[in-house]
Amino acid sequence: MTAGSLDALLVTSLPNILYLTNFSGTAAVVVIERESGRLRFITDSRYTESVRATGTTDRACPGLELVVTASSYDATAAAVLDEYRGRRVGFEASHLTVSRHAWLLSTLAAAGNAGVGLRASPELVPTQGLVEAGRVRKDTYELDVLREAGRRLSEVARVVLKMPLHGRTEMDVAADIDWQLRQAGFERPAFDTIVASGPNSALPHARPTERRIGESDLVVLDFGGVYGSYCVDLTRTRTPGVASPRALAVHEAVLEAQRRAISAVAPGVSRFEIDAAARQALAEVGLQDAFGHGTGHGLGIEIHEAPRIVQRRPDVDARDEMVEAGMVFTIEPGAYIPGWGGVRIEDDVIVTDQGAEMLTNVATGLTGA
Ligand code: GLY
Ligand code: MN
Ligand code: MN
Repeated sequence: MTAGSLDALLVTSLPNILYLTNFSGTAAVVVIERESGRLRFITDSRYTESVRATGTTDRACPGLELVVTASSYDATAAAVLDEYRGRRVGFEASHLTVSRHAWLLSTLAAAGNAGVGLRASPELVPTQGLVEAGRVRKDTYELDVLREAGRRLSEVARVVLKMPLHGRTEMDVAADIDWQLRQAGFERPAFDTIVASGPNSALPHARPTERRIGESDLVVLDFGGVYGSYCVDLTRTRTPGVASPRALAVHEAVLEAQRRAISAVAPGVSRFEIDAAARQALAEVGLQDAFGHGTGHGLGIEIHEAPRIVQRRPDVDARDEMVEAGMVFTIEPGAYIPGWGGVRIEDDVIVTDQGAEMLTNVATGLTGA
């Protein structure tokens, strides 16, 4: 905010609000004042009690002032922002719709023109990623939550690897996984659980169907949970019967790609280099065209956040972007062969001074425990 000469910042992204205040409800707007650190927290009567209760715990947000909306969120925000006439107020350009922005502009202009003095309204300044910049490297509290989440997800995975698959529908197995996530203390699944069998396993983001799992199918099981507001994510690929030589070969290639990407993880290494390590391993066995998606994505309050571990786009990514200690992301290479099937193996890592610390730890085999 100092670099952008902002007197205040309007925060409308709920994940950013959660990061700043520990509020996990579904409606709030925050206005932060740079100089005083004062944080105006606008919410409605559904949430005022839980915000007050949080304020009495050790998870309280310092400087938080509760503002309960009497009208709409944006009218209340406009009234707060009107205090910054003639000053610069940042807004989150990626998290404010064009129509809300237009409404705020015209409402603030009308307020500025009304009454005595004809003082100017605040200047609304677009910003990008101010709060996200703080989220990308996790602090010790966040790392402890993520470690516990990873431990719990690994426990869930060990149960899932023992589940019978043959003859059951993908939807049935997905429902069982979701139940196990709740049993393990997750607030909710971090995304719609994927169970993709046979030819469906060649679709990286398949939805579970009524298809019954066959004995020689490849089955991609991709699930994650939210624990203490933080997301973890894991994939294993299994086959109920005896793995074919081709399935074993593709599986081994994906596992090797994952090993190489994990070995590449260290502070100061470009995120593009980590992706390239996985891609190179698959290319060596002729599977370069079978791996279309990125190698990984950051994890935190959102299931997909920075840093993206992807291929460098020569037209857009002018420079390398190094990963740093405290970043948390997935490593999830895959190989997908249309009509035949696919394999993906996904684990979560923390970047440490030494390299990668695994958050998840479960057997990777196509069969067995
Ligand atoms: N299924 C979401 C992911 O693995 O990224
Ligand atoms: Mn993932
Ligand atoms: Mn996943």
